Amino acid sequence: MRKDAKRDTKLAHSGSQPADQSGIVNPPVYHASTVDYGTVAEMQELRNDPENNFVYGRRGTPTSSAFEEAVADLEGADRTVAVGSGLAAIAAAMLAFVKTGDHVLVCDSAYTPTRNLSENFLKRFGVETTYYDPLIGAGVSELFRENTKAIYTESPGSHTFEIQDIPAITEAAHKAGVKVVMDNTWAASYFFKPFDHGVDVSVQAATKYYVGHSDAMVGTVSMCGDNVQPVIDCIRVLGNNIAPDDAYLALRGMRTLSARLKRHQTNALKVAEWLAGRPEVDRVLHPALSTCPGHELWKRDFSGSNGLFGVVFKPYSEAAMHAFINGLELFSLGGSWGGYESLVLPTNVTRTATEWTENAQSIRFHIGLEDPDDLIENIAAGLKRLVK
Ligand SMILES: Cc1ncc(COP(=O)(O)O)c(C=O)c1O
Repeated sequence: MRKDAKRDTKLAHSGSQPADQSGIVNPPVYHASTVDYGTVAEMQELRNDPENNFVYGRRGTPTSSAFEEAVADLEGADRTVAVGSGLAAIAAAMLAFVKTGDHVLVCDSAYTPTRNLSENFLKRFGVETTYYDPLIGAGVSELFRENTKAIYTESPGSHTFEIQDIPAITEAAHKAGVKVVMDNTWAASYFFKPFDHGVDVSVQAATKYYVGHSDAMVGTVSMCGDNVQPVIDCIRVLGNNIAPDDAYLALRGMRTLSARLKRHQTNALKVAEWLAGRPEVDRVLHPALSTCPGHELWKRDFSGSNGLFGVVFKPYSEAAMHAFINGLELFSLGGSWGGYESLVLPTNVTRTATEWTENAQSIRFHIGLEDPDDLIENIAAGLKRLVK
């Protein structure tokens, strides 16, 4: 695919090789473990070729390669490797750069299992974590130590939606020789270009908008230049790989990503703006609204928004909040997001570097592809159940 092709063109064509597969536009789904090398000489040649991934099922197939190529094209990466979940992608990216005695910085707004990686895993291997205010920007340099190796960013933050100043963070990090990993799932690399802003490794839970139909678990790790090999080596050591059907589904989802994202964006903005005007609501944490921390940075660095945002309600009893959520029949109560359907989830985040005391009155919405007027009507009926 031409490097200068526009993102929607890339989404329609990247990774497609019809000439190599009887003219069929979609890749075949290869179910593979064993690869027949032919002769011993051919085996040795294949195994010594770092560019050849088709040496064993775990290392990839033409199906996973087609997906990886499409993601790399969209992200502007030299290389993408697909793994079995977004969390596997996060773990591989962080583990690639640390050893015992090192120090990492993790934004206080990180997805909770990312914090678990630090608390329940890195700590056991002697890697220390400092959590930082996601709005710290260039001030992050004050937290660097001699042994700081990586800084983890997620923008916007999980549930609390702070937009981070990624260009300021990457500039400070690179002066100190620190690698920057970014969870870029929210923007799906469609609304934010990580490598244009200095990010070293971009990870995504492709489980969300790439898959788009809530039916597969997929992660991606993308990087450029010198960062490619250490990250690939780490992924290989961990034995991470993507299942063939899931690679197929994720690539198929990418073909319609642009149309779906735009619809999620329009629907969510309509619902978020309506909620912002309701007396029951304290504030809406949607990056495109001025009430979201870091909104000005979103305007500067992002080119759009999706279906996911948070709402902080005025204080109501726990029973009232539960009654509100339980009766929303158009919204499934569930984790994940990025599928066609609307979701609601009570917020339950842990903070250690910054203050957040509003779990009990906060909710995350994912606005799906339904008619937004029906969703608004459903929420409006729910608000009547919010009695003190
Ligand atoms: C922002 C973010 N990053 C990463 C993940 C993890 O992805 P997966 O569920 O594919 O492991 C999630 C999952 O909800 C997420 O919301």
